[in-house]
Parts: sequence; C-alpha cells; structure tokens
Amino acid sequence: MHEIILKVAFVLLIVDISDASTFPMTYTCATNAREQYDMFFPVQCPKGCASRTYGVWGNGVYTRDSSICRAAIHDGRISDEGGEVIVYKQPGQRSYVGVERNSIRSISFGYWRGAFSFTPKIPDTPITCETPLENERFDLLTDFQITCPRGCRDSSANVWGSSIYTYHSSLCKSAIHDGRLTNEGGLVTIYKQPGQALYKGEEKNSVKSLFMDYSHISFSFTPNVSSVNDQPVSCHITGRDSRFTVQASFNLTCPSGCANITGNVWGSGIYTQDSAVCRAAIHDGRIKNETGGSITFYRQLGQSSYIGLERNSIKSLPYGYWKKSFTFSANPPDPPDCTTTAENWRFFNQNKFEFSCIPSCAETTNNIWGNVFYTTESSICKAAIHDGRLLNADGGIVTVYIQPGQHSYNGTERNSVKSLPHEHSSSSFSFTVNGTDNGGDSDATTISPGPSGGQDNGLYALLIIPIVLAFVFGGFLWRRLRRRQRYVKYSSDV
Ligand SMILES: *[C@@H]1O[C@H](CO)[C@@H](O)[C@H](O)[C@H]1NC(C)=O
Ligand SMILES: *[C@@H]1O[C@H](CO)[C@@H](O)[C@H](O)[C@H]1NC(C)=O
Ligand SMILES: *[C@@H]1O[C@H](CO)[C@@H](O)[C@H](O)[C@H]1NC(C)=O
Ligand SMILES: *[C@@H]1O[C@H](CO)[C@@H](O)[C@H](O)[C@H]1NC(C)=O
Ligand SMILES: *[C@@H]1O[C@H](CO)[C@@H](O)[C@H](O)[C@H]1NC(C)=O
Ligand SMILES: *[C@@H]1O[C@H](CO)[C@@H](O)[C@H](O)[C@H]1NC(C)=O
Repeated sequence: MHEIILKVAFVLLIVDISDASTFPMTYTCATNAREQYDMFFPVQCPKGCASRTYGVWGNGVYTRDSSICRAAIHDGRISDEGGEVIVYKQPGQRSYVGVERNSIRSISFGYWRGAFSFTPKIPDTPITCETPLENERFDLLTDFQITCPRGCRDSSANVWGSSIYTYHSSLCKSAIHDGRLTNEGGLVTIYKQPGQALYKGEEKNSVKSLFMDYSHISFSFTPNVSSVNDQPVSCHITGRDSRFTVQASFNLTCPSGCANITGNVWGSGIYTQDSAVCRAAIHDGRIKNETGGSITFYRQLGQSSYIGLERNSIKSLPYGYWKKSFTFSANPPDPPDCTTTAENWRFFNQNKFEFSCIPSCAETTNNIWGNVFYTTESSICKAAIHDGRLLNADGGIVTVYIQPGQHSYNGTERNSVKSLPHEHSSSSFSFTVNGTDNGGDSDATTISPGPSGGQDNGLYALLIIPIVLAFVFGGFLWRRLRRRQRYVKYSSDV
C-alpha cells in the first residue's frame, strides 16, 4: 500500500517533468521510459544518479516508470559516473522483484503494464542463493545448468532432503550440501526428479538440510540418484500420501520400530487408505517390527467394511464403508460381507476379533446354526443380529469370541432371524467372553428352541418399560423441583 502511494506520487512528479521537456530529451536522473515511443533508444545518463531518490522497481526488467539511469546503475550497465545505455521497451510483467544491487535498492511490485530492460530480450533474473526449482524459467526443462553466486552456504535459504531435494529447496545451497560446489559458487547441473515419499534431513558439508514428507517434484545433481521407487519412508506414512495415488503399485522400504507409532490401522489383509502403511505391513505379516523392510503397496477400491483383528502384536480396528483401501498383495482378499464366517482365513489363530458388519445381513441366504453359541461356519453378521448385538438396518461392529465346540446347537428364532439346529461341531463362537446371553437374557442352556424364541423380545420389553418410565418420570419430577427452587430464589431476590 505504502509502495503504491509512493509510486503514484512519483509518477505524478515525473509527468510534470516530462511535460516540461521537449524532444530531443535532456536526460536527467528522473527520466523514465513512459514518454518514449521507440522500441529502443539510447540514453545518455548524467553523473551522480545513485544518490538520488527516484524509484526503481524490478531487477533486470524494470517498470516503465522507473528511473532509467538509476536502473542502469542497479543493473550494472554504468557506474555513478554516468554514460550511455540502450533502453529496450518490454511488455508489462506479472511482477517485479526488488533487490539491492550495486548500492541501489530496487522495489518489488506486482503487475505493471509497461517495462524496459537494457537487453533486447528480457533477461532472466539472476540466480541467487534463494532461487528454488520452483521457477517459471525451469518449467519446461528436465535438466539445466546454473551458475551459483558465492556465499550460499551461509544464506538463510532452506534445503529439504539429501541427494534428492524438494522443489522449493535452494538450488545453490543444495549443491553445497550435496558436495557439488563449495561456498565459492560456480556452475552446477540440475536434474529434475519425480516426487518422493520422504526427504531425509541431515548435515553435510556444513549445510543442515531438513526432513520433509511428500513433495511432488524434486531435483538432484546426478541423473541416476537411488531409484525413486523403493524409497525409505517414515513410519507415519499413510496410504493417503499423494505419491500412492499416482501409481497402481509402489515399492517402499519401512524403517524398523513402526509397531510403536501412534498411527491407526483399520482392516486386516485389506486396509483403509488412511491406515499407517508400515504398521499395516507388520500387521499383515509382511515385515517385522524389529527389522522393517521392503513392501509393495497396492491401491485397491473402497470396501463396504473392514475387519479389526489383532495380528503380529498389532491391533487393527474395524470400520464400515471407506472409499479407498490398500493391500500388500496384488489380489486383494475377498471383502468381508454378510457371508463371512468365523472360519475365514483372516481369523486364523484368533480367539477374539472385532468384525464390522454391513447392514441388512438378516436377509442373507447364508445359514446360522445355534443360539448364543454358533457353529463357526455360521454367518457372523447374521448371528450377531440373531443374538441381538446389531440392528439389521444399521449393521455395526461386533466382538467375536471363538469358543470350544458345543455338544449340540439348538435352532431358534430371535430378532426375526431363524437359526438351525446342529449336532456336535469342533468349534463355535459367541459374542461374549463366556457365552452369556445378551442384555440380561436367560442363560444360554435354558433357551427353548423353536419359534417360541420370539418371547425373548416380549421379555425385554417387560423389563425395559418400567426402567424407561422411571427415568422419564424421575426426570420430570427433578425438573419440577429445580424450577420451583429457582422460583423461590427469584422471589427472594426481589
Ligand atoms: C549413473 O549413470 C552413469 C551412466 O549413465 C554411470 O556411469 C554412473 O555410474 C551412474 N551412477 C550411479 C550412482 O549409479
Ligand atoms: C517392486 O519390486 C518388485 C521386486 O521386489 C519388482 O518386481 C517390481 O517391479 C517393483 N515394482 C515397482 C513399481 O517398481
Ligand atoms: C518395535 O521395535 C522398536 C525398536 O526397534 C522397539 O523399541 C519396540 O519396542 C518394538 N515394538 C514392539 C511392539 O515390538
Ligand atoms: C512399544 O510397544 C510395546 C507394546 O505395545 C511396549 O511394550 C514397548 O515398551 C514399546 N516400546 C517403546 C520404545 O515405546
Ligand atoms: C461370564 O463372565 C462374567 C464376567 O466376565 C461373569 O460375571 C459371569 O458370571 C460369567 N458367566 C458365566 C456363566 O460363567
Ligand atoms: C436345546 O433345547 C433343549 C430342549 O428344548 C434343551 O434341553 C437344551 O438345553 C437346549 N440346548 C442348548 C444348547 O440350548
């Protein structure tokens, strides 16, 4: 704002001066390029412009209302002794950079409609210690050379990475970090590289670089830095990392000790996209916590639900629908659904696990056998509805306990789900640790078989109605009492 006001005031001043002057012009330190109609023209600069206060906006390319002679000193074309320069008119620029050069401080500015320079072509702004890869002039290049100034080791510019650097790292300081240049500066070749999942921070050649997670474009100083694939990642990386969204599969190396990080893992065999990848790999038995190691990450479609399971000392969480997922094998395991039984490979060697049920499993044609204790070939979700753990319309997460085989299984109808009788089987499951029934219902062994099971619901209702009534009525009485107390209080205040 301040600059704009300054600039407007300055422009007014110049208009006065140039109105007064007639061609051929006499060039002063205040002369700018606004009243010039030629595409290029020579200017004879007087002596002593450096100490004048006429504004200069830009660096190499200057706004057309900048003082020509001061800009010429700034650009190193003449000294304060003055001399002749050739001014080339240039189209307006999106922005102008202010820097101090040759004892003249130029000013930064946004869009300005006309510009000039001292070369026919707009010069590239000089490479400084701060110049990053993120710069229009490098947009179309895959590799290029730059000349770095001296002293970049001590510049305040940042460097992220090691061997491969993020696109916003200082090019010249990175070159020192990588041992390509000394603090004296010089010529280096830069190679663009794809984005990495992780950038290491370390001190090398007296430059301390910083750690960074994902970045989309990088650079290095050799064409063949260690394969972009199979990069080491951090324990905290999740399947959401943008890098994983590009390729169908991805090789990466997990460090050791990922079992102990706080990142959650949802699912088993197939994991929600936002799960911690390295912990999930330990859970899935692909790597060991103590050593870490290489894994292949495969992008997968969203699943209607994910199983929570403790495997390899990592407890994963169950979840309902999640829009994207990943696995560590090219062929994802069957998604869990209403047909999943406790004999599914996922639950191998488990004696307790959580399972996420999609809604409407009461309608599945898969059978269930038993009551409270169900045979392991029963549909988990249908049994859970039968046992009153879930509402058919909602689905949800249930905890399943693997139990010893029962002598026999009765068929009953409960919660509108019919179970079948079964003879002895080698194992069973229940929804409580010791097979007690849901919600204070009678003991498992005394439940009568057959369609009379419907009575259970009646029993619940009989128990619940007085409790609900007591709550409602109690609450009502309590509020009445409170209101009265308040009333008493107000009246006494008055
Ligand atoms: C990079 O590739 C060049 C040949 O293209 C080879 O001479 C050099 O040894 C390679 N460097 C590394 C670090 O692989
Ligand atoms: C990942 O590594 C395997 C070998 O372990 C290799 O066959 C595969 O091509 C690699 N995948 C990618 C995307 O580099
Ligand atoms: C995982 O490994 C780290 C270090 O390697 C260790 O400190 C930690 O206790 C291990 N965690 C588990 C659960 O084994
Ligand atoms: C890692 O987790 C395991 C089990 O959860 C615990 O026994 C161990 O102390 C933890 N180690 C560290 C270094 O936090
Ligand atoms: C089942 O376990 C609960 C505690 O977990 C206990 O209170 C209950 O008595 C047990 N029931 C049977 C039948 O063992
Ligand atoms: C099955 O039903 C019979 C008779 O109704 C009963 O005696 C038996 O205890 C029940 N068994 C189970 C496992 O519920």
